[in-house]
Amino acid sequence: MSKTLGRVLVGGGTGFIGTNLCKSLKTHGYDVTIISRMPGPMRLTWHDIKKDGIPNNTTAVINLAGQNVLDMSRRWTEGFKQNVFNSRVETTSVLSRAIAESKVKPGSFVTISGVGIYKPDNNEVYTEESKTYEFDFFSKLCIEWEKAAKLSGEETRLVTIRSGVVLGRDGGMIKQLYMPFFLGLGGPVMPGNQYLPWIHIQDLCRLIIFAVQCASVTGVLNGVAPEQVTNKQFTDAFAKAMSRPAFFPVPTFMLNTILSAERAKMLTTGQKVKPQRTESLGFKFLYPKIDAACEALTKRT
Ligand SMILES: NC(=O)c1ccc[n+]([C@@H]2O[C@H](COP(=O)([O-])OP(=O)(O)OC[C@H]3O[C@@H](n4cnc5c(N)ncnc54)[C@H](OP(=O)(O)O)[C@@H]3O)[C@@H](O)[C@H]2O)c1
Repeated sequence: MSKTLGRVLVGGGTGFIGTNLCKSLKTHGYDVTIISRMPGPMRLTWHDIKKDGIPNNTTAVINLAGQNVLDMSRRWTEGFKQNVFNSRVETTSVLSRAIAESKVKPGSFVTISGVGIYKPDNNEVYTEESKTYEFDFFSKLCIEWEKAAKLSGEETRLVTIRSGVVLGRDGGMIKQLYMPFFLGLGGPVMPGNQYLPWIHIQDLCRLIIFAVQCASVTGVLNGVAPEQVTNKQFTDAFAKAMSRPAFFPVPTFMLNTILSAERAKMLTTGQKVKPQRTESLGFKFLYPKIDAACEALTKRT
């Protein structure tokens, strides 16, 4: 029997990022156990983790769990906001406590957070060293999410990836945009000059595995591609890769009405974010530029 690189637990491994990551981890030679709300083969539930802790032979723990914020079928109520908050902060706390209490510690704990921790601004350039503070719901969420990860203690190496919008064919933003753009009905989200920190799904999975494997990597990494683009520049790149026009801008008031202004801010405002630490620690992006990323996303294979 061939030896594997060890067992990795992936909270939220059934989701868009999780499914891609689990495939990649297996290709790299890891055994993968998903932590889910639903029991199943090669799965543990959150209840199992609370009750029994993490298995002794765990090499790394990753958390990608989180209620989909932009689920259009859910109204932006206080109850839904609590759900969005708990599904990230509570699951991360459960894993942190289990790591802190484990006798045999995993080598690394990799958690995700968002660029929503940085205040939307079209001029300021944010790096991992930028000061963070609470200024709205999403910044509070990211701060608490990152704080929850720190409860895991000093003995397990902790890496937190502040991810931009993840671009992949099988989920997230591109899955929503693909059909309207294909039909020639695409366009930028107004005002269009707001920055859109982004990362190709392959790069995010590679970055998470980099964090698992590199013993010198610890702390916060910005999970965004080096090329900073505005929403309009992204739209033009995506439309060009699809050989379609992008004539139909999405008005801010429409998103404010459908999603509520607080949630719509995720689309109508943005931040200029640099992966300064990520690159200085030696991570190389496969897709540093938006044109090549969009071409790869729209290639018919
Ligand atoms: N996609 C992006 O562009 C992006 C950007 C920045 C950060 N992120 C963060 O990355 C994480 C993964 O994103 P994703 O796009 O892969 O999300 P996703 O496809 O919606 O999957 C997330 C997973 O979280 C679990 N989950 C959903 N609601 C939950 C709840 N109420 N309580 C506990 N678990 C719940 C689900 O697993 P089970 O059903 O198996 O329990 C689901 O498969 C999220 O935390 C998200 O905020 C994503």
